Amino acid sequence: MNDKEQTLSIIKPDAVERNLQDEIKQEFIGKGFEIIKEKKIHISKEEAEKFYKVHESKPFYNDLCAYLSSGPIVVMNLQRKNAVIENRKLMGATNPKDAEDGTLRKKYGISIDKNSVHGSDSVENAKIELDFFFND
Ligand code: CDP
Ligand code: MG
Repeated sequence: MNDKEQTLSIIKPDAVERNLQDEIKQEFIGKGFEIIKEKKIHISKEEAEKFYKVHESKPFYNDLCAYLSSGPIVVMNLQRKNAVIENRKLMGATNPKDAEDGTLRKKYGISIDKNSVHGSDSVENAKIELDFFFND
């Protein structure tokens, strides 16, 4: 039985700007994730608005979408057992200030908005988000 799961990870503009993508990819590999697809892209504000539509009513929505479209990002399809939850654990808390030692956001995050990585928050959303970026 194949019990592997897939999730979407994004290395956000603040991390790509600091050329951290290879280091962050090694962190995933070290935790047993396979990077089965990846691409470096620069999305438009409209695409970011579509991707983050769930946050439409939040006060930070506009800045968040402007930020995600402000520079290149690396989007990846990560696979392993319990990929969604394991990726969320490796990422750490949304605000790097609250993130535990050893997590990606603690190590690389600058602030709550420039927190270096995105990860799907459920298996259902992982499917939707993977389809958003890898629909070919
Ligand atoms: O990314 P995560 O799932 O941990 O957090 P979220 O609540 O789904 O929020 C999405 C993104 O919005 C976060 O990763 C932050 O970059 C940003 N955000 C923000 O700028 N200000 C907040 N007060 C909350 C979130
Ligand atoms: Mg989220």
